[in-house]
Amino acid sequence: MTTRHLLNIIDLSIDELSLVGDLSDRVLNDLHRPLAGGGVALIFEKPSNRTRQSMEMAVVQLGGHPVYTRGEEVGLDTRESVEDVIQILEGYHSMVAARVFSHGVVERMAALSSIPIVNMLSDWSHPLQALADLRTMRHEFGSLSGRQVAWVGDYNNVARSLGEACVMSGMSIRFACPGGFEPSVAECERLAKLGSGEVISTDDPVEAATHADAVHTDTWVSMGQEDEVEERRRIFAPYSVTDELMAVASSDAIFMHCLPAYRGYEVAASVIDGPASRVVRQGHDRLHAARGALAFLGGVR
Ligand code: CP
Ligand code: NVA
Repeated sequence: MTTRHLLNIIDLSIDELSLVGDLSDRVLNDLHRPLAGGGVALIFEKPSNRTRQSMEMAVVQLGGHPVYTRGEEVGLDTRESVEDVIQILEGYHSMVAARVFSHGVVERMAALSSIPIVNMLSDWSHPLQALADLRTMRHEFGSLSGRQVAWVGDYNNVARSLGEACVMSGMSIRFACPGGFEPSVAECERLAKLGSGEVISTDDPVEAATHADAVHTDTWVSMGQEDEVEERRRIFAPYSVTDELMAVASSDAIFMHCLPAYRGYEVAASVIDGPASRVVRQGHDRLHAARGALAFLGGVR
């Protein structure tokens, strides 16, 4: 059987994306323990709150044992090669999950691994976050098809995975990003081909947010970009999600953010701490998303 990996949302078919959403509850109710007796190595080259905690708990809930390891300890490509690390870990574990700077690292792991590799965030994508985001929106809206999502800010790892997940779920997405930080025309075309949802890129947050059902954003300065903080805060200043911007969205629009958030920058405190915000539920949904993803990779159908 071919080993399945989760490096990007598009590693799943449309039907599988929906199945992963259903599995998180089903495995709890049916007491499925696909990881019983097995380990999952969780390697972090960057800090984490939600991803580490939710993945460790999901592994435990599925009967497995998580082994958290800091990137410095493993020393991917410094202490030893990525290939040597993976060939050893696959002898101990049922799966390996990694949060890495370069997406190429998880691709190299997947290229030779006989056990599933899970991307816990790279510079390219954050599929576990998008799975949680879908769950939060499904809870809010019921059916996702035909819903309109706005992304305001940087076209980054979180935005790319959200875009893939939205279009594959029949939602439309409008990205509002400053020049130089937007999805390319080819990238928008790639996303649009994934499903029935429409994909639009604009530099105008109001155009993106108008009549949106959900307004999403993320930090302007991702991990690894700390040297660019001043320049990015200047460029992204017009892309803050404020009460004025939320006012052009649908009257019952929700606000979403993967966290950590920087109040007064990408989002006003009154929005993220206000009645439209779903960020706490979204954070809690990371556990359900992790459980669904790991159950799927563990062979539950
Ligand atoms: N949203 C998210 O991935 O959070 P952490 O960086 O805390 O894991
Ligand atoms: N875009 C952010 C997401 C953090 C969860 C980053 O990569 O740092």
